[in-house]
Amino acid sequence: IFPSLLFAQEFIPNYDESKVPDYQLPDPLAFENGEKVNSLADWEKKRVETLRYFETEVYGISPAWDGEMKTEIISEKQNAVGGKAIRKEVKLSLIRQGKQVDIYVLIYLPKSSSRSPVFLGLNFYGNHTLSEHQAIRVTDAWIRNNETYGSSDNRASEKGRGKRRENWAVEEAINRGYGIATLYYGELDPDFDDGFENGVHALYQEERNENSWGAVAAWAWGLSRVMDYLETLREVDGEKVAVLGHSRLGKAALWAGAIDTRFAMVISNNSGCGGAALSRRRYGETVGRINRVFPHWFAGKFDHYNENEDALPVDQHQLIALMAPRPVYIASGVDDRWADPKGEFLSGLYSNPVYQLFGKTGMPVNEQPDVDQPVMGDIGYHVRSGGHGMLPYDMHQYFNFADKHWKVHP
Ligand code: GCU
Repeated sequence: IFPSLLFAQEFIPNYDESKVPDYQLPDPLAFENGEKVNSLADWEKKRVETLRYFETEVYGISPAWDGEMKTEIISEKQNAVGGKAIRKEVKLSLIRQGKQVDIYVLIYLPKSSSRSPVFLGLNFYGNHTLSEHQAIRVTDAWIRNNETYGSSDNRASEKGRGKRRENWAVEEAINRGYGIATLYYGELDPDFDDGFENGVHALYQEERNENSWGAVAAWAWGLSRVMDYLETLREVDGEKVAVLGHSRLGKAALWAGAIDTRFAMVISNNSGCGGAALSRRRYGETVGRINRVFPHWFAGKFDHYNENEDALPVDQHQLIALMAPRPVYIASGVDDRWADPKGEFLSGLYSNPVYQLFGKTGMPVNEQPDVDQPVMGDIGYHVRSGGHGMLPYDMHQYFNFADKHWKVHP
C-alpha cells in the first residue's frame, strides 16, 4: 500500500467550526518589515512580494513563454446552438526547443455580436463532453476513469459525448451574448504524479527544485496560452475574458488570474484548499492532506507547511487580493464542506483592504450570505444548496455578475 493512501485513510477532516484553531492571517497591506502599504504605488511593490511568495511557496514558478504557437482550425460550424453561434475547435501547438504539445480549444461565439466577451475554463472530461456533435474531437490524452463520463483504461470515449453539456450552460451563454472557450486540462498536464515529464512541463528541461511549477501552475500557464490565442481573434473582446474553473481547475483559474492580469474577471467554483479557502482554518481538506494525496499539484516547497500552516508567509485571501481591482467571484456549495465554504467566503472578505485601496468595496457583505443568496460587489459570492459541482445555477450567477460589470445586454 502506498504511504499516501495509508495517510488518506487515516485523515479525518475537521468539520466542527468550534474546532477551527485560532489563527492570525498575514496583513495583505503590510510589508515583511512591518511597514504599511499606503498607496497604490506601495501596493504594486507589495503585489510583487505577495506573488513571489505564492510562486516559491505554493504553486511553483512558471516559466515565461518563449516558444512558438501554431494554430489550426480542425472543425468549424456556422450554425451551432440552434443557429445562434459559431463553433470552432482549434488545435494550438506549443513548440519549444524541438518539443511540441498540442492542445485543443473548443470555442462557441454568439452571432449576436461581432466582438464578444468570453468565459474561458478548463474541463475535466474532454471537449466532446460539452456537445452531442460528432465533429468535436475525443481527446487522446490520459484521462481519469469515470463511468458516467465514458472514460476507462485512462482513455476518453464516445460514451462521454454531451454528458457535461448542462454544466457549461453553453446555450444560456450564447443567449446572453457570451462566448465559451474550453479545453481538456489533461492535454496541458496529465493529472497524475509522473515526475513532471509530460504535458507542458516537458517543454522546459530545466532542473527542477522545490520552487518549480506543479500541475496547478501548468494548467494556469496553459490558460494564458489560450489567452494569447484569443487575443488574436477579432471576434473576441480581449478586454473581457473571464477565467473560470471548478475545484482543482478553480485553483488553476485563480492562479491564472493572479499571474496574468489580462484576465479581466476571475471565477472560482468550489476551489477549496489551495484555491479560495484559507489554509490556516484547517477545515475540511488541509495543506498536509492535499500535498500527500496530490504530490504533483503544488511546488515541492508547499510540503513544508503540512500541519504547519501558520508558517506560510501568505494565505489565500492574498491570492484573491492579487486580482484587485478586477472583479472576482467565489462560489461554494453548502454540502461541499471538504472545500470549506466559509473559509472561501472569508478569503474574499479579508482581501477587502486591497480593494479599498483602489477605492472599491471588494466583498459587499461582512457575513457569509445565506444559501442561494448571491451577493455581487467587486467580489461576488454565493453558497449554493447542494454539493461539489459546477451547475447551471452557478453559471447563471456568473453571467449575472458579468452583466453587472460589463453591461452586456445582447
Ligand atoms: C479532490 C481534492 C480537492 C479538489 C477536488 C476536485 O477532492 O481533494 O482539492 O478540488 O478533488 O478537483 O474535484
